[in-house]
Amino acid sequence: MMNTRVALCLIFASFLCGAYGAKITFVNKCSYTVWPGTLTSAQKPQLSKTGFELPSGQTTSVDTPTPWEGRFWARTGCSTSSGKFTCATANCGDQLECNGAGAVPPATLAELHIEANGGQDFYDISNVDGSNLPMSIAPEGGSGDCKPSSCPADLNAECPAELQMKDGSGKVVACKSACVAFNEPKYCCTGEFSTPEKCTPTQYSEYFEQRCPQAYSYAYDDKSSTFTCFQGPNYTITFCP
Ligand SMILES: *[C@@H]1O[C@H](CO)[C@@H](O)[C@H](O)[C@H]1NC(C)=O
Repeated sequence: MMNTRVALCLIFASFLCGAYGAKITFVNKCSYTVWPGTLTSAQKPQLSKTGFELPSGQTTSVDTPTPWEGRFWARTGCSTSSGKFTCATANCGDQLECNGAGAVPPATLAELHIEANGGQDFYDISNVDGSNLPMSIAPEGGSGDCKPSSCPADLNAECPAELQMKDGSGKVVACKSACVAFNEPKYCCTGEFSTPEKCTPTQYSEYFEQRCPQAYSYAYDDKSSTFTCFQGPNYTITFCP
């Protein structure tokens, strides 16, 4: 039996149902190749691309269904010289396509929640799992605030020594969040620190907050880090904006 909503969807597909989904465009403005990863949340089917190579200056896009919720990141320093595909940062299970595996932190994340039927989308850039490269997310089209959120700073450059992640040559390739580095409740907002009132900024989260105030610096960072847009925008994710 065809219900009313399905019938309406067939007639007004793009307006009522977002049948065409959102187009996510990845732009690599870094001077080096990155390997983006995509992860769909909540045991939903993964996107058609879950990991791919994106050389400097190049662009790739992928379509999402609606509603959709998930995250994007980019791996750096990937190679197959060890006989398997591994990356210096944000690895996802030693494979080019992440196939449902998330990024091993530290990794800068773009988090996106696309609502059905042109409802309210939420998106942010997160350094909660640390940072491996500068990133931004920008809606295109849509209505409402629809502002881009960007963390353009190179957070590896001045990363505090105790948060640094180095590659084999001693170069700092990522900056861990304090939660990733120390795994303590006061930094991870867990246990007795599991409320916004109890989990407050620390000297470590301030390192990220001062350089990238639009991005989440810890799990209960203020609401200024969550951005919204209505009416089914597309999104551009830029690496090294
Ligand atoms: C999103 O991208 C698709 C494909 O390029 C386009 O048809 C559609 O109009 C775009 N939507 C918005 C809101 O810009």
